[in-house]
Amino acid sequence: MNKTIIVSNRLPLQISIEQDKLNVSPSVGGLATGMKSVHAEGNGVWVGWSGITDEELDASLKKEVNAKIEKEKCKAVGLTEEDLNDYYLGFSNRTLWPLFHYFLEYSEFENTQWEAYKRVNQKFAEVVLETIEEGDTVWVHDYQLLLLPQLIKDVRPDVTIGFFLHIPFPSYEIFRTFPWREEILTGMLGADLIGFHTYDYERHFLSSVKRILRLDVNFNEITYHDRIVKVDSFPMGIDYNKFHEAALTHNNPDTNISELQKRLDAHLNEGDDKKFILSIDRLDYTKGIPNRLKAFEHFLNTYPQYKEKVRLIMLAVPSRSNVPQYQRLKRETDELVGRINGEFSTVSWTPIWYFYRSLPFENLIDLYTSSDVALITPVRDGMNLVAKEYVATRTNLDGVLILSEMAGAAKEMNEAILINPNSFEDFATALDKALTMPLEEQNNRMKILQKRLKRYDVEKWAKEFLSTLEDTNQLQEIVVSK
Ligand code: ADP
Ligand code: G6P
Repeated sequence: MNKTIIVSNRLPLQISIEQDKLNVSPSVGGLATGMKSVHAEGNGVWVGWSGITDEELDASLKKEVNAKIEKEKCKAVGLTEEDLNDYYLGFSNRTLWPLFHYFLEYSEFENTQWEAYKRVNQKFAEVVLETIEEGDTVWVHDYQLLLLPQLIKDVRPDVTIGFFLHIPFPSYEIFRTFPWREEILTGMLGADLIGFHTYDYERHFLSSVKRILRLDVNFNEITYHDRIVKVDSFPMGIDYNKFHEAALTHNNPDTNISELQKRLDAHLNEGDDKKFILSIDRLDYTKGIPNRLKAFEHFLNTYPQYKEKVRLIMLAVPSRSNVPQYQRLKRETDELVGRINGEFSTVSWTPIWYFYRSLPFENLIDLYTSSDVALITPVRDGMNLVAKEYVATRTNLDGVLILSEMAGAAKEMNEAILINPNSFEDFATALDKALTMPLEEQNNRMKILQKRLKRYDVEKWAKEFLSTLEDTNQLQEIVVSK
């Protein structure tokens, strides 16, 4: 039976060694949480990095790790510490990530890191090539593996390859500053279908292909050597039913209540005017966390009637903490939370509850279902699945989503209150509007949002991508036989 080989830098499970024992945890981030449900449904295999470096593994541990990975229908690509430093922390997260999110001043262009990026993409290619069987499809994901499609195509021109980028593709004016722009574009063009979250990212990519590689682009098809490469947008959905049903179970009076939920209820039970505003992100500079905190301070000063009533719950998941910009962001966030809490707290009220950790799924549901407002305000974000997850859990159709215009998700979520994350005024007005929005209006907006998310969930997204890929393959056969 033909299978789909999913390839991404990170596997959906992360293995680490704690007190000489292997610890397995789920990966966070939109790619892993979204693709996990797609992978669970299919008969494919997922190729990626396990979370452990080669140096940490002796022969017996390696066997144990592989057994855990294989059980989840995954296959590991071995990475050394040097690979991790130069390819992952280096080129992927100190060059490509900031550049593609318009943080040009954070982007480093180091030749050693570029060499490591090429080397590691080659390592991934080797594992994929030994996994491919006749008739298989390969689906490569994200910015860590931009060279991989061409590396596979060079050896196996017969294999159908899809590529999906989970982050924005920047405008030509940004992309042209990148020293290895031709290599990256030709690497991606090894795929038969290239997918983006939004039409804007697709447009930016096509414009770079035209202007940098001077290739023929006909609407959304690129002629590259003797092949046609199709480009399209596929806004990624979530596992809607999983979140909706978890919220229904959570709201059932027979379900056991978590410690976190007891604390949340204690606050909400103090009165009808007690409200929670929720934000959840990886601690990443693209998520606009300092801006959000300063804007919340501005809001409390502009609308003092909310003091002692509303509370911002801010959940930040540790991420890439070996990269200096992330360390600085952590310090800045800690300081801002401390300052704002110091300025406004009273004996009975702390305006911000700040958690810096990953939480189990059940606690995420506690937070989503207990919050009157979700405040999701990245300064730049490929999609943002948290915004969609919040909506899916609002089983009573109440709650308001405030969403940044700079998130890919904003393109499909017009019924949210959309704001410019750089405007403190926008923040304050939106928060006041959300906190006073009549229930009927909340219901009307939620109903439309839920309907759309339910219809185009992650399963539909994956099916649509794979069936377009299949069509592209047939198109190829026609071109070749002409
Ligand atoms: P990104 O991919 O940039 O991290 P997304 O919003 O698209 O941003 O995806 C984040 C994913 O990580 C969501 O599916 C969310 O449920 C999950 N997540 C976020 N915070 C936590 C947390 N504290 N614990 C567990 N999972 C989390
Ligand atoms: C984003 C990226 C993913 C990445 C995730 C977590 O969602 O698009 O490719 O896996 O962040 O980041 P990490 O660096 O921990 O894998």
